[in-house]
Amino acid sequence: MSKKDATTNTVTITDNRTGKQIELDLLKPTCGPMTIDVTSLYKQLGYFTYDPGFMSTASCWSKITYLDGDKGVLEYRGYPIEQLAEKSTFLETCYLLLHGDLPKKDEMEKFEYDIKHHTMLHEQLLRFYSGFRRDSHPMAIMVGVVAALSAFYHDDEDIHDPQDRMNAAHRLIAKMPTIAAWSYRYAMGMPFIYPDNSLDFSENFLHMMFSTPCEKYKVDPLLAKALDIILILHADHEQNASTSTVRLAGSSQANPFAVLASGIASLWGPAHGGANEAVIRMLTEINDSGKPLSDFIDRAKDKKDRFRLMGFGHRVYKNYDPRAKIIRKICHQMLESGQCTDPKHQKLLDTAMELEKIAREDDYFVSRNLYPNVDFYSGIIFLGMGIPLNMFTVLFAVGRSVGWVAQWNEMMADPQTKIGRPRQLFTGEATREYQEFEER
Ligand code: CMC
Repeated sequence: MSKKDATTNTVTITDNRTGKQIELDLLKPTCGPMTIDVTSLYKQLGYFTYDPGFMSTASCWSKITYLDGDKGVLEYRGYPIEQLAEKSTFLETCYLLLHGDLPKKDEMEKFEYDIKHHTMLHEQLLRFYSGFRRDSHPMAIMVGVVAALSAFYHDDEDIHDPQDRMNAAHRLIAKMPTIAAWSYRYAMGMPFIYPDNSLDFSENFLHMMFSTPCEKYKVDPLLAKALDIILILHADHEQNASTSTVRLAGSSQANPFAVLASGIASLWGPAHGGANEAVIRMLTEINDSGKPLSDFIDRAKDKKDRFRLMGFGHRVYKNYDPRAKIIRKICHQMLESGQCTDPKHQKLLDTAMELEKIAREDDYFVSRNLYPNVDFYSGIIFLGMGIPLNMFTVLFAVGRSVGWVAQWNEMMADPQTKIGRPRQLFTGEATREYQEFEER
């Protein structure tokens, strides 16, 4: 849709300071709120808009993912997340996000072939791992190694060529599980396990995580399926912090792998993807403390205390996060199926459910529409799979990599794309004269 087609009306702005009136175009999206086009505001009135945290700002056009936070709706290319989680696979969802539609059988076979034939890393990239301290957080390794891919794929690739961009997308999707699994292997002092193309995407990841040269890990198909669904749920989420970081970094036309590494860095924080790790630390702290849950609820409500209920709240969802609903169900199924026998995991789930119950009846959380988000229950499933705590956000990154690269590709193909360059409301010193030492 062009800007002209989307324009349905105008909004009149009156400057009460000068009395001047201007008209701004009102744009109508396929779904979601109408949007005022403020691009000419500065030219017409000489004013900037101020919106820290982008509370009311649409930063781009996009056709990829739609979410309605009030209703708890999430759709990739128009398909509800519930249907994709039930019927699709992560790789098929990758195709959907990248190409805009579900693949026909032959398209899917070709896509699978292309991804499988990019899963290996350049052997020289292996040496990067030994440069990291053994106890490095795997997200630190992810940022470094994904950025290092730019050293291997740069001069030959033209970011203005759609085919080259698709090659970059295939490389990223294919190599992320290898890079991720190896960041764990390195920390454990275990040999790297190469990808096995006879396995599907999620099975292959578990194989690279847990096989040894002397014993092949027997992948449990139910665990692999649960992982695949979790990857689908994390695959994209419109203009969140890490995706916006990718778009901003990419708008300068930088190398895509360096750009995608910036997305990983942004995801790492506990307010974003790092919350899945923080949730388990919080639940463990609660269980170990022996204190009643109400103490922690009180702390979360206390504005002088920095403690927050991790895995609760969302900028956009003011209703139950649809991803959390699906994950909560898988979590129950996994523990009930007897696949996870560690009583500590059951205790974590019990505490999580009790915490959710208390919070959802508490006026503080109710009045602020704070519900469990995608990170609240996912960690318990990861623990059940034997995935260590510091790898949780890495798994989020593996899933989200397709969203980042699809959004980067969409931006690069959009003729309206400009370098991202926000302005500011300057509150520092106005012009003043330099003073010599003796005058200061
Ligand atoms: N615990 C206690 N209070 C909270 C929480 C929480 N988890 N989340 C929000 N609030 C309060 C907040 O103090 C504020 O209260 P008041 O109006 O009295 O000042 C109100 O709710 C609105 O919160 P906000 O911080 O202004 O909202 P935001 O949209 O800027 O932040 C958030 C969203 C996700 C960063 C925040 O809810 C949070 O820190 N949650 C915990 C971390 C977390 O679970 N992050 C994962 C997000 S989902 C996955 C992803 O996208 O990566």
